[in-house]
Amino acid sequence: MSSSVKRISLGIDWLNYALLGGVPRGNWLLVTGEPGVGKSILTIQAAGANVDAMPVVYVSTETRFFDVVRQARQFNIDLSDAVSLADVLAGKVKDVKTNLVVIDLFGLARQYRELLKASEEEEGKSKAKSPLSMEVVMASIERAYEVLGVSEEGKVTKDVLVIIDSLAPMWAHAPAMARLITYRLRQRLYRSNVTVIMTNQFAPTTGMTFGFGAEHIADAIIHMWIEQPEKKKEIERWLIIKKARLTNHYRKAMKYEIEPGKGLVLLEPSIDELKKWFDEYAGGRESSEEE
Ligand SMILES: Nc1ncnc2c1ncn2[C@@H]1O[C@H](COP(=O)(O)OP(=O)(O)OP(=O)(O)O)[C@@H](O)[C@H]1O
Ligand SMILES: [Mg+2]
Repeated sequence: MSSSVKRISLGIDWLNYALLGGVPRGNWLLVTGEPGVGKSILTIQAAGANVDAMPVVYVSTETRFFDVVRQARQFNIDLSDAVSLADVLAGKVKDVKTNLVVIDLFGLARQYRELLKASEEEEGKSKAKSPLSMEVVMASIERAYEVLGVSEEGKVTKDVLVIIDSLAPMWAHAPAMARLITYRLRQRLYRSNVTVIMTNQFAPTTGMTFGFGAEHIADAIIHMWIEQPEKKKEIERWLIIKKARLTNHYRKAMKYEIEPGKGLVLLEPSIDELKKWFDEYAGGRESSEEE
C-alpha cells in the first residue's frame, strides 16, 4: 500500500516548495552558513510554524530563552506560550501545559549541575565535561520530552520536532571530535518520529563547515551565504539545498532577504517559478514515497 510521507513545514512558503512540502518526517536537516546569514531566524520560523501542531524542543546553545521569544516576535511569530527548561528545573513553573520547551544556556547549565550531582552520588557514572557537551544537550532534550509529555520508557510517543541552534559549541573544545560527537548524537537522538533541524557555522575563509562531520549525519543540507559583500558593497543573501535524502528538491540557488515582520523573503527566482516546479514534481511524489 502506498502512503505519502508526512512533511514538516519550515514556516517559509518558498522554501517548503523547494523541498516539495518540507522536511520528510524523521529526517535531519542541517542548516549551514556564515554568521548573520539567517540560520537562527530560519529555525525560529520553523518552530513557529509547527508549534500548534506538534511538540517542539528548541535548543539554543548561543542565546537566552528571552532572546529567542523576542527575536520571534520581531518576525510576527508568537512563542509566548513557550516554557524555558531552566525555569522548569528551578521549580518556577508547575503544571506545564506547553507545546514548546526552549533549552537555553541557563537550562543547559542547570542540567549540567544536575548531571554532576548525580555522578557524584552514583559511583561509576561518567561525568559530563561541560554544559555544552553532547551528553548535557541530550539529557536536556530528554528532560524536555518529559515536560512535553511525550516520553515513555525511553520511547518518544508522538511526532516531535527538535531544533538545535547550533551544534558548534558541542565540539568547540575538540573540533577533531566533531564527527564522533555527531554520530553519538545521532545514535541517542534518532527516532523515526523525531524530526531534527540543526544549524552549524561555516567559515567563509576556509570554505569549510566548522567541525567536520555534521554533513554526513544530515539527511538534508541547506547552505546559506552572503555573496562577496566587499565587492557588492551590500548584503546579498543566497541559499541552496545541497542535498536531501528521500526527497526531490529544487536545484538552483535562491536569493532572499530578511525582512522585519516577515523573516526570510524570496527575491529570486519568482515564487511562481518555484510553485511551477513544485506542481510538476509534487504529483510524482506520492508514487515515489511508497512505504
Ligand atoms: N528584526 C529584524 N528585522 C530584519 N532583519 C533582522 C532582524 N533581526 C535580525 N535581522 C537580520 O538577521 C541577521 C541575523 O540572522 P541570524 O541571527 O538568523 O543569523 P545566524 O546565521 O544565526 O548567525 P550566527 O551564526 O551569528 O548565529 C542580522 O545580521 C540581520 O541582518
Ligand atoms: Mg544564529
